[in-house]
Amino acid sequence: HEEPLVLGIETSCDETGIGIVRGRTLLANAIASSMDEHARYGGVVPEVAARAHLEALTPTIERALAEAGVELAELDGIAVTSGPGLAGALMVGVSAAKALAIALDRPLYAVNHLVGHVGADLLQGEGLREAVGAVGELELPTIALLVSGGHTSLLLVRDLIGDVELLGETIDDAAGEAFDKVARLLGLPYPGGPEIDRVAAAGDPGAIRFPRGLTRPKDLERHRYDFSFSGLKTSVARWVERFAAEHADDGVPIPVADVAASFREAVADVLLSKALAACAELGVPRLLLGGGVVANARVRELARERAAAAGVALRVPPLSLCTDNGAMIASIGAQLMRAGRAPSGLGFGADSTLPV
Ligand code: KG4
Ligand code: ZN
Repeated sequence: HEEPLVLGIETSCDETGIGIVRGRTLLANAIASSMDEHARYGGVVPEVAARAHLEALTPTIERALAEAGVELAELDGIAVTSGPGLAGALMVGVSAAKALAIALDRPLYAVNHLVGHVGADLLQGEGLREAVGAVGELELPTIALLVSGGHTSLLLVRDLIGDVELLGETIDDAAGEAFDKVARLLGLPYPGGPEIDRVAAAGDPGAIRFPRGLTRPKDLERHRYDFSFSGLKTSVARWVERFAAEHADDGVPIPVADVAASFREAVADVLLSKALAACAELGVPRLLLGGGVVANARVRELARERAAAAGVALRVPPLSLCTDNGAMIASIGAQLMRAGRAPSGLGFGADSTLPV
């Protein structure tokens, strides 16, 4: 085979992801999640996530090898997320990757998690091309909007393995985190994103006009395309408190569906406004989405509508590759190997704030 067989390890948050690719062909995408263990805390607990990774790593590696039908000894290289993410969680994956690289005497590549999300779109395999929007090859440069419980970032990708520029990121909560927090204050279970999405379907998105954070030029002190969601979350909390106080005597229930729909609209609006502004202002008519929040029905719908109206080619990888996974890390590892890039060696660590 000319294409490198690479195993990728992803442990930056609560998913233990092991992926195996041959070049751009996806062979396995095994995931173990500690989501259930975090549910009663209403968010990911770093210490719990790190312990769960340690327990899940070996069985998940075995599952991925079985799924791909390959032996450890056949691997050409190892790739691992070195950041950004939860420090303790990252360390488990980085340690495991170093151990494998030493034991197998194979090159090891440190991969940036956000770049990995973009790399997910390169993968080909059965059932993967039913992606939303543009089909065919990923064209560069592209704008990438990555939204999950841990990050909300807008990137300009000129070259996946060497030229990725951060255009903006959240200055407080990640979009998924905002979904989880608002769900909690509406009495919906964790993770809140899917719950809000479900409840919002029966609500009126125009019922309440919640604020769109950092959309006025004077707000933008850092990056041109930064996001803020904590003000929105507080605004929802205040609205619910006020409604409850006003209806303390008449017992009118909080209109949860309208609140959820209006909140979801505000998040989707801000995300897509900024992403498409970047496409227009930078003259890049391509937009790639990634991260767990891409599952959101309104985010998907608004992305399609606005991209079409702006003449922007939209790409959305299948959801199994949008959420955190090891295959996207292996994908970047394979690109680095094919390009003959020097391996990362064993000297790197876990960097919770690793820049792109
Ligand atoms: O990418 P992901 O699986 O893991 C990381 O956070 O890294 O994303 C999970 C996040 C959670 O915050 C979850 O509430 C959110 O994505 N999410 C959604 C939806 N499905 C998952 N948010 C909004 N709408 C959804 N349908
Ligand atoms: Zn992620």
